[in-house]
Amino acid sequence: MEKIVILTGAGISAESGLGTFRDEGGLWSQYRIEDVATPEGFARDPALVQGFYNARRAQAAKAEPNLAHRALARLQRDWPGEVVIVTQNVDGLHEAGGAQDVIHMHGILAGALCAACGHRWTAPPEMSVGEPCPACAALNARPDVVWFGEMPYHMDTIYDHLAGASFFASIGTSGQVYPAAAFVHEAAMSGARTVELNLEPSTGASSFDDVILGPASETVPRWVDDLLGPR
Ligand code: APR
Repeated sequence: MEKIVILTGAGISAESGLGTFRDEGGLWSQYRIEDVATPEGFARDPALVQGFYNARRAQAAKAEPNLAHRALARLQRDWPGEVVIVTQNVDGLHEAGGAQDVIHMHGILAGALCAACGHRWTAPPEMSVGEPCPACAALNARPDVVWFGEMPYHMDTIYDHLAGASFFASIGTSGQVYPAAAFVHEAAMSGARTVELNLEPSTGASSFDDVILGPASETVPRWVDDLLGPR
């Protein structure tokens, strides 16, 4: 049965009130990436980095999934084949909207990671500097998110899914960060039909068979209805 692989980015959570990165007023116009989203930034000023992620964790905890998150969960439930959701987002809105087995290639805000022993645990709402690891007691716990210069998670699994995809959809991402920005080429090489659903054409829009423009809460439910047929 035909397999659908979906990549999502910050744009799918924009209508849930979570900021994107590169839109007008986005996070990268408020913070410097090198200060809050690199291992060097964390080593230089862990309090600034923990504060950045504490603020995003608090905002994400208050956010609700929107119609786009819920439509993808419905697609997973009702599509006869496998539907794999790979997200660059670190919020938990896909799961809150009913999605299963979401692959978080950039980690999750709700997770804490020990940089010394690799132990993972559920992050408290506010992480503080020098938090002891529950497993090894080392004092350098960090948010379990992937920073620039680090390897995204689950890449082998993601490439396996892309190799077997009949459809690939990219939703709410600007297509400026690799390796995610190249997934459309991987999928196309495997013969998948590719579609981008975005507020405006992404950097890689010309690589897609179809481009559907508009807010995700409108375009994604309509796209799912078209795939599933009338309810
Ligand atoms: N509906 C659909 N798309 C939207 C909406 C919306 N309501 N609002 C914004 N968008 C689109 C924008 O047009 C833009 O193309 O979402 C995209 C957001 O792009 P970015 O802010 O660059 O976010 P993203 O692509 O997810 O960034 C990728 O970069 O900083 C790193 O790790 C971070 O995971 C992030 C990665």
